[in-house]
Amino acid sequence: MKGVGNMAETRASENHRLLVSTRNAHKVGEIRAILGDSFEVFDLSILPHRPEVEETGMTFEENATLKAVAASLLFEGWVIADDSGLEVDVLEGSPGVYSARYAGGSATDADNNALLLRNLAGVRGKERSARFRCVIALARAGRKLAAFSGAVEGLIVNEHKGTGGFGYDPLFVPDGYGETFGQLPAEVKNRLSHRAQALEKLREWRGWW
Ligand code: IMP
Repeated sequence: MKGVGNMAETRASENHRLLVSTRNAHKVGEIRAILGDSFEVFDLSILPHRPEVEETGMTFEENATLKAVAASLLFEGWVIADDSGLEVDVLEGSPGVYSARYAGGSATDADNNALLLRNLAGVRGKERSARFRCVIALARAGRKLAAFSGAVEGLIVNEHKGTGGFGYDPLFVPDGYGETFGQLPAEVKNRLSHRAQALEKLREWRGWW
């Protein structure tokens, strides 16, 4: 049996263990860069039986919750899941929750970006307005505790620019900047992105204390 001291230590370390329930290594990298000094951040590779979660929700929050709750049944500590995507105004909010599979179930980022550019052919200037949106769900022991959202507004450019980031980053220029997220340094994206904003709210969550 564990002594009282050990139990207390176990509790303390569990309180700093945070699993990110996603298969997207880019998201984990960004979350680690943003939260790494507050938590010990794990990814799904530490779970022997990783949960297979179908994203059947109609909203970012529903999908984030499905992913966070499923993994929280298999992990002792906090679990977060990020569901995110790009909303393009002239496309009535598409690709939205379907951002990862915009060009089909096995689409690559390049396929999705090419389709987006095709669908915006002939659309000019401010008509190309869009935002990245992110919802982070927080769960523990099979229960959803909270959800935090963030959004960053910007414009979709006419061609790929830059090699940084992932997904639609080379097509998205955040408001107030002259370069895409694919061109801007990672530190800049991690300061102003939809994900950074949602994680800032997570950090400030009242339930931590
Ligand atoms: P999810 O894994 O279902 O949340 O899909 C997220 C998809 O949205 C990604 O595959 C990207 O296509 C897009 N996305 C979300 N966040 C970002 C970002 O920070 N940069 C670029 N694309 C993003």
